[in-house]
Amino acid sequence: MAAGKGVIILNERIDAINVLNRMLSGMFGQSSQTVVIEEFLSGIECSVFVLTDGKNYKILPIAKDYKRIGEGDTGLNTGGMGAISPVPFADDVFMNKVIKRVIEPTVKGLAKEKIEYKGFIFIGLISVNNEPYVIEYNVRLGDPESEVVLPRIKSDFVDLLEGVANGNLDEKEIIIDERYAATVMLVSGGYPEVYEKDKLIEGLDQTKDTLVFHAGTVTREGGIYTAGGRVLALTSFGDTKHEALKKSFDSAEEISFDKKYYRKDIGFDI
Ligand code: GLY
Repeated sequence: MAAGKGVIILNERIDAINVLNRMLSGMFGQSSQTVVIEEFLSGIECSVFVLTDGKNYKILPIAKDYKRIGEGDTGLNTGGMGAISPVPFADDVFMNKVIKRVIEPTVKGLAKEKIEYKGFIFIGLISVNNEPYVIEYNVRLGDPESEVVLPRIKSDFVDLLEGVANGNLDEKEIIIDERYAATVMLVSGGYPEVYEKDKLIEGLDQTKDTLVFHAGTVTREGGIYTAGGRVLALTSFGDTKHEALKKSFDSAEEISFDKKYYRKDIGFDI
């Protein structure tokens, strides 16, 4: 409605007053007749996934995604350039705050409002001086977080989903792999703006110790070709963040297609 430009961050009160007046005078036409004013939050984000049967819940591995195309979190937003799990700043102290202030009130609140919800709750959080603030809720898993979250779940995932369906999630156990998982996304050069497709992908059989998730690919005579902006997600495990990332970056080098691009700084900020 405001061509993606409707959010304006202002440091000074006087600037906020001026912009508010311009908005209410039609800066974005009809769209800016209604204005929301929110506190600006500066911190680091993470994604918390909760599986609930409407009464009981399990917390899935915590992850952090990297949305921008450029290194150092610069440039345009994408569907996701990589992810890492666990997230060291989301330690027990932080997560206890998240459980008490966010997860339990959310699950109980849904039941109190008679919303029978079974499934995933994706809570986008920002840590501001180690205090969690909710940025957004989604009722789904996340991408590319899923590519690090799901591999870290060692217990039978179908059994957990049966617990959701049957309302006995409390009787199920979730076992989480303690190692780091790191995902690096290979994208087509030019993405998220104009990019070319139909590039032959080579080296898929050369990767070691890496799970390869196909996103924008197509198989046809002659091999596997690129068919989208986000082409492949490469997930590897390691005892340390660096080991997991190194394996994914090594696999990223083994795989080739014309104008391949990936961010080499996934996990840089945690
Ligand atoms: N990675 C963010 C999302 O799935 O919305």
